[in-house]
Amino acid sequence: MLQLIYVSTARAGATIDLGQILACSERNNRRDGITGLLHHRGRRFLQALEGEAAMVEATYARIAADPRHFAMVVLSRREVAAREFGDWAMAADDGSGGVVVQVATLVEGAAPNVRATFEGFAAMRAA
Ligand SMILES: Cc1cc2nc3c(=O)[nH]c(=O)nc-3n(C[C@H](O)[C@H](O)[C@H](O)COP(=O)(O)O)c2cc1C
Repeated sequence: MLQLIYVSTARAGATIDLGQILACSERNNRRDGITGLLHHRGRRFLQALEGEAAMVEATYARIAADPRHFAMVVLSRREVAAREFGDWAMAADDGSGGVVVQVATLVEGAAPNVRATFEGFAAMRAA
């Protein structure tokens, strides 16, 4: 099984409707056996995708072609024996600080470096 993690930045002027992205992702990812976590903070996204390699690559290619964001950088692409993110989830910063706790819970089962990536991102000042 493949796990892919990337960061990206919302395009200036792009309307980011997180509810729409969530609904569309839930639908497609359930169909494709993709799980993971989409973390949104300020103008940045950090996402983990897990599933069958061809499905992860196809999903990533679709996301990469999305004009709502740019500057995608793959932080990690590795084989995992089992899913580290149990389900599909989104954690968005609402300014309350609750997202740090939320992300910590969602990455509990992930490898230490993956956990550190998400926890560090969640704790960063919004860019
Ligand atoms: C930051 C970000 C994350 C996204 N994550 C996913 C995802 O996990 N799965 C997905 O199918 N689409 C995701 N999308 C949406 C895709 O870019 C694309 O719009 C969508 O897959 C098209 O699906 P459709 O052909 O069913 O309309 C994401 C978009 C953005 C901007």
